[in-house]
Amino acid sequence: MSTTKIALVTGGSRGLGKNMAQHLAAKGLDVILTYHSKQDEAAAVVAEIQAQGRKAAALQLDASNAGSFDAFFEQVKTTLGSTFGTERFDFLVNNAGTGLYQPYDQVTEQQFDDMLNIHLKGPFFLTQKALPLLNDGGGIVNISSGLTRIIYPNSSTYASMKAAMETLTKYQAKELASRRIRVNIVAPGAIETDFGGGRTRDNKEINAHIASLTAMGRVGLPTDIGPVVAFLCTDEAGWIDAQRIEVSGGQGI
Ligand SMILES: NC(=O)c1ccc[n+]([C@@H]2O[C@H](COP(=O)([O-])OP(=O)(O)OC[C@H]3O[C@@H](n4cnc5c(N)ncnc54)[C@H](OP(=O)(O)O)[C@@H]3O)[C@@H](O)[C@H]2O)c1
Repeated sequence: MSTTKIALVTGGSRGLGKNMAQHLAAKGLDVILTYHSKQDEAAAVVAEIQAQGRKAAALQLDASNAGSFDAFFEQVKTTLGSTFGTERFDFLVNNAGTGLYQPYDQVTEQQFDDMLNIHLKGPFFLTQKALPLLNDGGGIVNISSGLTRIIYPNSSTYASMKAAMETLTKYQAKELASRRIRVNIVAPGAIETDFGGGRTRDNKEINAHIASLTAMGRVGLPTDIGPVVAFLCTDEAGWIDAQRIEVSGGQGI
C-alpha cells in the first residue's frame, strides 16, 4: 500500500484551488481535484501534476448540491482504487465557491440560498460524507475570507456563510480530534482570480483601492495562498489545529 498522502481539493480547476493543487503536488502529495463546469482546465491541472511525477485525477462535483455527494464519493472510491491503488485519502480542502456582491437590503431569498448551499451546506455535508474515506491522522482545510473580519459593503450574505464555516471548523476540530484529524480554516484577503467576475484582478480602481488598504501594498495572488494550504497538509503543521489563519498581506489593519 502506498504511503504517499492524497489530498482532495474542491474547485481545483482554476484560481486558488488550482494553485493549492499545484503546491500540494510540489510537497509530494497526490491530488484529486474537482471542477464544476471547466473539465478542460481541470484536465490541464491533472496533466501538469502528473508531469511533476505525482498521481492526479479530476472529478466533476457540484459543491452546492448536497444530494449529489453520495454518488460523488462512490466515484471517489472508484478513482482511489483505479488511479491511486488505495481505499482512502488524507486531506480534504473545501475550496470551491462563487461570489455575491449585493447590498444587504436587496439580497433575494434565492441569492441567500445559493450562498448557503455552496459555502456552508455544501462543505458541511461534503466533509461529513468524506469521513469514512478519510484516514485517521489526516486533515481538513476549510476556506473562509478576510471579509469575516474586514467589513466591506455588499458582502453580508457571502461573509455570513464564511463566518459560519469558521465556527464549524472549531466544532469539527473538537469532534474529529479522537481520530487525530486536524481542522483549520484559511481566510484569504482579496486575490486576483476569476472570482466575482474577476473584479479584483480586472477592475483597476478596485485593485488599487484594495492595495491601498493592504499593509503589503498590493492585492493577493493565488500563489500567496496555495503554499499555506499545502503546508497545513504536512506533518510539519501537525500541531496546528482549530485555527483561522488569515492570509491577506495585512489587508484592512
Ligand atoms: N479570490 C478571492 O478574492 C477570494 C478571497 C477570499 C476567499 N476566496 C474563496 O476562495 C475559494 C476559491 O475562490 P477562487 O478565487 O479560486 O474562485 P474562482 O477562480 O472563481 O474558481 C472557482 C472554483 O470553484 C469551482 N466551482 C464554482 N462553482 C462550483 C460549484 N457549484 N460546485 C463545485 N465547484 C464549483 C470552479 O469550477 P469550474 O472551473 O469548473 O467552474 C473553480 O474551480 C472560494 O471559496 C472563495 O470564496 C476567494
